[in-house]
Amino acid sequence: METSVERCTILDLPKISDPRGNLTFVEGDRHVPFNIQRVYYLYDVPGGAERGGHAHKQLEQLIIAMSGSFDVVLDDGVNQKRVHLNRSYNGLYVCPMIWRELDNFSSGSVCMVLASNKYDEADYYRDYQQFLHVRNHK
Ligand code: TYD
Repeated sequence: METSVERCTILDLPKISDPRGNLTFVEGDRHVPFNIQRVYYLYDVPGGAERGGHAHKQLEQLIIAMSGSFDVVLDDGVNQKRVHLNRSYNGLYVCPMIWRELDNFSSGSVCMVLASNKYDEADYYRDYQQFLHVRNHK
């Protein structure tokens, strides 16, 4: 299946507004287009740090700024786009075969990622030239 940065869009998650505090929920296969198999989060990110710097062969993800803000730079080998995340009720859907980098973390920010599969190092491309080669020779 061809994947592109155009397919990576911001999803609006349900938000129950309440004077006692707002509530957002995510159900697999309903609010995200995959079954959620794993959740991980980045926190205590020092100023100026960059995360990511890889692509996944099969994995689908939803990236949420639980607190604070950061940018996600997406790259399908041809087109790039930078997405700023700063709302707990928004999630950035990232389809397979997209190189991503995360930067511009605000202090105290928390990045939560919902993933369609368990951790598998064999699913990663960690070398950008190799990723480009695979993308452009399909
Ligand atoms: P990595 O995916 O490279 O982090 P990021 O994209 O946020 O920069 O993972 C960093 C390290 O953590 C790497 O050694 C693999 C390990 N890791 C797990 O063991 N399980 C996981 O679910 C994730 C996401 C990473």
